Amino acid sequence: MEPVLEVKNLTKNFGGLCAVSNVSMEIMPGELIGLIGPNGAGKTTLFNLLTGVYEPSEGLIEMDVDGKKRQIGGLKPYKITDYGVARTFQNIRLFKSMTVLENVQVAMQRNIRYGTMTAILRLPKFYSEERWVREKAEEYLKEVGLYGKRHELATNLPYGEQRRLEIARALAIQPKILYLDEPAAGMNPQETADLTNLIHKIREKYHLTVILIEHDMSLVMNICERIYVLDYGKMIANGTPEEIKNNEFVIKAYLGEEI
Ligand SMILES: Nc1ncnc2c1ncn2[C@@H]1O[C@H](COP(=O)(O)OP(=O)(O)OP(=O)(O)O)[C@@H](O)[C@H]1O
Ligand SMILES: [Mg+2]
Repeated sequence: MEPVLEVKNLTKNFGGLCAVSNVSMEIMPGELIGLIGPNGAGKTTLFNLLTGVYEPSEGLIEMDVDGKKRQIGGLKPYKITDYGVARTFQNIRLFKSMTVLENVQVAMQRNIRYGTMTAILRLPKFYSEERWVREKAEEYLKEVGLYGKRHELATNLPYGEQRRLEIARALAIQPKILYLDEPAAGMNPQETADLTNLIHKIREKYHLTVILIEHDMSLVMNICERIYVLDYGKMIANGTPEEIKNNEFVIKAYLGEEI
């Protein structure tokens, strides 16, 4: 099996600051990967490179796109989205004046991929594009448990539900790789437990490769099959949760007495 994503010697400099320094990763299809490290370690910057928000200073990002290896580093975000990459943001980005349902519909219409387009073109005449988009959006809302709130304004949802709405928006673009930037931030233990189940469920159902940034170590250690650790922009470790918990460099840089 070929990796779905290969990061090779990736570097991002901001002036004199090296936020991501010579980072390499290899991710297999369907893996559930954790990305951890102290504040300012470069985790979000790495996601920004992987999703086209920033251009790499050096290095390559190779993604398997329909069996072909493509270098996606430096491509525009919409192009990377087209290849099947979706994300959520550390600072939630929703359209606050729109309803929950409209937020997902907009994500679908903005990011119509070939698969979606073909599906739309094949629709029977009586079945309008609008109705199809609405029904798909409703399906994703059911998936994340927000269908009952579809007519509420996004801004009126509690924080944890706004994070789940972001996941519905990400699913709406039918990705094969999903990046989640601190999905449990601001959630209580029950919401975090529900989120863990949700991530497992959508990974199975939509055959996703998931990479998540998290400071909640119970979630990371519980859910991730493999974990990468960043510190001052450098990847200092990579291994199973058990290996990471017992890695002396990781304990020193990040975990400390916590575990
Ligand atoms: N656009 C930018 N311009 C200049 N410096 C930046 C920019 N984006 C990030 N940085 C710097 O790069 C470093 C890494 O930041 P980043 O946000 O990637 O960290 P992080 O690991 O996501 O931290 P946190 O856990 O707090 O979210 C920080 O020192 C940050 O100030
Ligand atoms: Mg961050």
